[in-house]
Amino acid sequence: MAEQDCLLKIKGISLAFSGTPILKSVDLSLYQGEIHALVGENGAGKSSLFKCILGIISPSQGEIIFLNESLSGYSIRDILRKGISMIHQELMLIPELTVAENIFLGRETAQGKRMGLSEINQATTDLFREYDLDILVGAFVKDLSIAHQQIIEIMRSVSQKARLILMDEPTSSLTEKEVVFFRQLIFRLKSEGISIVFTSHKMDEVFDFSDKISVLRDGEMVGTFSKAEVDPMSLVQKMVGREMKDFYPKALSEVGQAIIRVNDLSCAPHFEHVNFTLHSGEVLGLSGLVGAGRSDIGQVLFGVKKKTSGTMQLKGQEYNPGNPSEALRAGLGYLGEDRKEMGIIPEMNITENMSLGLLDAYRKFLFIDQEKESLDAAEMQSRLSVHSAKEGQRIQNLSGGNQQKVLFGRILLNNPEVLILDEPTRGIDVMSKFEIYTLILALKKQGKAILLISSDLPELLAMSDRVIVISKGKQMAELSRDNASPEKVLEFSLH
Ligand SMILES: Nc1ncnc2c1ncn2[C@@H]1O[C@H](COP(=O)(O)OP(=O)(O)OP(=O)(O)O)[C@@H](O)[C@H]1O
Ligand SMILES: [Mg+2]
Repeated sequence: MAEQDCLLKIKGISLAFSGTPILKSVDLSLYQGEIHALVGENGAGKSSLFKCILGIISPSQGEIIFLNESLSGYSIRDILRKGISMIHQELMLIPELTVAENIFLGRETAQGKRMGLSEINQATTDLFREYDLDILVGAFVKDLSIAHQQIIEIMRSVSQKARLILMDEPTSSLTEKEVVFFRQLIFRLKSEGISIVFTSHKMDEVFDFSDKISVLRDGEMVGTFSKAEVDPMSLVQKMVGREMKDFYPKALSEVGQAIIRVNDLSCAPHFEHVNFTLHSGEVLGLSGLVGAGRSDIGQVLFGVKKKTSGTMQLKGQEYNPGNPSEALRAGLGYLGEDRKEMGIIPEMNITENMSLGLLDAYRKFLFIDQEKESLDAAEMQSRLSVHSAKEGQRIQNLSGGNQQKVLFGRILLNNPEVLILDEPTRGIDVMSKFEIYTLILALKKQGKAILLISSDLPELLAMSDRVIVISKGKQMAELSRDNASPEKVLEFSLH
């Protein structure tokens, strides 16, 4: 492509945090109307590169040129105005404001006046009509699904006449159906000449959406490739710098005795009349769309939500946890889908975060046995290969995927008999996913009973001995491993 079509040129960007190099002389060229995937393992530097482009952090070296003009010295606001915007990994909307306010608040009319509320609403209505969006402009953002919140963020960028939108893991919280919609939306933006760079840990999306793919490894740009030059396996090899044979480890399908029985369980209005048995050594998959009630089932089992009718049994005994700590003591572990809600304490370091919520084994006479705590947490950290730049690193500075691993570690330290895993690999890179899968299978082999909730259908099917499909709070089907095809599961999910 001709040099003059180049929209953004990154030249030799380097960045370090307290002496640790994060980006090492990175080069990248982006062209108009192109969808460009940026891939790499957790901690490779993808989000950091985005932040450099947007002026959120300043690189120590290098230059970023947008439309033939250097961006150095410009503030975030200036850069936004020039036409670059970003959809963050954690969404940045104001929950208490309406959809329309989130898109247009603080904006001026063509006449240079501040937009009033009715103008804001009208402009949003027009914008949504143009893009065939069926979202209420007056709804509060806090009442919207993650998928809709994300569309609002994208629409805000569109309304700001962005020419380049950086999307940091835009699909990690979306279900398959929502991803289909998202895909249409970005192709529409592309047809309007808007360029998109997105990060994703899902290879199928990377290959489906993008025109070009760039690979970051350990802060270094490995290269930019056309889709013809790479396939998923070779791309992963470029990401990890070593050979990988398979995306999923092989699972044994032997299962033991019943551990949890759920009979006619309801939790109005989230789900009703759910029945299943979870055995030791079994991975039972819960499939369905976001909002179908899968997470609610996990939450009732863990005492986060109260059942409204039906019964639960744990090893033949009546089981009805009043709260999560009762569930913990009964031998359950729970990995929630939302990292923020799950109580990552950003200011604490990895060890401290891992040992949060630990049981009495660590609490000798009301004080914490710090030595044991650090030892166990350190072992867990290496077992899960949590990559941190330095020891005692604050968790807020870890990459998204590594934060997830810390949470996983926190649960495993309690040695639970039953594990409820809600989207355990969300935002986690391929290599670490493989590690987490291996870990899940090792736990299965030890006889743990595992309830796996995942919107990643290939993952769910590869890992589960049986799959239960939930749609709109109702149990639609139970499929054995051999019977569960993606088509079948989707068909029941969409009922
Ligand atoms: N403010 C900070 N202080 C210190 N280190 C940081 C800071 N922000 C990021 N890092 C480190 O920089 C590295 C790159 O992080 P970054 O978030 O860019 O990775 P990423 O490629 O986006 O990963 P993921 O796929 O997990 O989102 C990581 O090792 C991270 O721990
Ligand atoms: Mg990131």
